[in-house]
Amino acid sequence: MTTPDTTGRGVGELPAGRPPQTEFHDGLDYPRLGTVSFRRGTLTDNQQALWQERFPELGTVLTEDSGPIDYDAWFGRTDAPTVLEIGSGTGTSTVAMALAEPGTNVIAAELYKPGLAKMLGNLTRNGVDNIRMVRGDGIEVLARMIPPASLTGVRVFFPDPWPKARHHKRRIIQSGPLHLIATRLKPGGVLHVATDHADYAEWIAELVDVEPLLEYQGWPWPECPILTDRQVITKFEGRGHRLEHEITEFLWRRTDAPAATDAASESDREEGDAR
Ligand SMILES: C[S@@+](CC[C@H](N)C(=O)[O-])C[C@H]1O[C@@H](n2cnc3c(N)ncnc32)[C@H](O)[C@@H]1O
Repeated sequence: MTTPDTTGRGVGELPAGRPPQTEFHDGLDYPRLGTVSFRRGTLTDNQQALWQERFPELGTVLTEDSGPIDYDAWFGRTDAPTVLEIGSGTGTSTVAMALAEPGTNVIAAELYKPGLAKMLGNLTRNGVDNIRMVRGDGIEVLARMIPPASLTGVRVFFPDPWPKARHHKRRIIQSGPLHLIATRLKPGGVLHVATDHADYAEWIAELVDVEPLLEYQGWPWPECPILTDRQVITKFEGRGHRLEHEITEFLWRRTDAPAATDAASESDREEGDAR
């Protein structure tokens, strides 16, 4: 049974107007998406029917009102490790990895509705029940919906490379997201990034030590505590192979140190509340 949509928007539709954008005030660099538009965006009739039926149960849309996710309630089980994938695309590897890690809760954050719809078909055909999806900007999902120190892993596979120099500021791997991801990982949690873009790989290589809460482990890292094998070749990985691009992978471990800035912003809020 589907839940009636009471938002006034269609099921799984983004709110109209400017997408939510948090101001971070921490001196770090964050990408800004601006208005998002996708040229190709229609679902087949079957995909649309499945979307109407299953998105309300398995998905949610990021809005200004979104708050922290209760993983246990959403996944219907207690204390399972939870991994967030940002930019899951068509979800090819998301589904294959979820099948290989049934004890892990997987949250896929993606803006592109046809990609999420394709993943919904795939997970339904495969009887996968450990994936949930958030339609929205992964940075805002991290900031608003992911509680601090709650994730065992974050995956960013083949993020948009934004090859032109004037667009580099849109890249998701920058000092701000690295810090935000670190604060959402539990101590010992893992960040896994892969790219087939040589210039983006160089850009990331220069940033591997920029975040004090993330200890760079290189690649491979045989003792890595989360699954790192994508099981299948993703759509964009396949494109990289066809273009004979080298795939570069990066792994970081969240240190055991407390996230000092969280404590600071917490106390700022408390002081603000008291005034
Ligand atoms: C190059 S594709 C890679 C997709 C997939 N990981 C793969 O390997 O096939 C990048 C994806 O990230 C999504 N994306 C880009 N920026 C995003 C953001 N800020 N939050 C969530 N998804 C984002 C895009 O819509 C796109 O589907």
